[in-house]
Amino acid sequence: MRSLDHLFEKNKAWAQRIVEQDPDFFVKLSRQQSPEYLWIGCSDSRVPANEIVDLLPGELFVHRNVANLVVHTDLNCLSVLQFAVDVLKVRHIIVCGHYGCSGVNAALRRHRIGLSDNWLRHVQDVRHKHEAALASIGNETLMADRLCELNVVEQVANVCQTTIARDAWERGQELAIHGWAYGIKDGLLRDLNVTVTNYAEAIPMYQAAIGALA
Ligand code: CO
Repeated sequence: MRSLDHLFEKNKAWAQRIVEQDPDFFVKLSRQQSPEYLWIGCSDSRVPANEIVDLLPGELFVHRNVANLVVHTDLNCLSVLQFAVDVLKVRHIIVCGHYGCSGVNAALRRHRIGLSDNWLRHVQDVRHKHEAALASIGNETLMADRLCELNVVEQVANVCQTTIARDAWERGQELAIHGWAYGIKDGLLRDLNVTVTNYAEAIPMYQAAIGALA
């Protein structure tokens, strides 16, 4: 129980593999990070941000929580967002949901888990908001897939409404916000076509994306 030696061994082998390819890799990285992307994804162990897009350490700034939510008062997510946009000057924010998300499924089926029910209430709010569109889907799996997509579109809209994104656009900083869904069954990403590159686009892009999912 006390020892996780196998993880230290794997770590050593991993660092060695990277150094074999680029002897200065870690030395260069230790001086600074300049990632171009902020990833906001689910905590699910099957959705590891860097691996999915095949990026190395230093290339992706990451925030993950259950069901990839961007809650207006979540100081944790907002701090990551602010640091990424204002300090690191990332050019892209990717909100990535995934099919088969336990959090989304629990919200859809109103399953009680415990404390996290209160967090997942935000997904239930998304479900409630799009009740009519979801109800027209007969199959429960397809309904869960759709709720996963709707949830991403809603979280993209939430990012757009933060003072952080709005201020960045206001001062002319280049910033694009994307909404994607990842398939744990095939390892592939889908673009939900809700990319917003300035504040004026936020509401039209949201409406178009929701319309496409209706
Ligand atoms: Co999930």
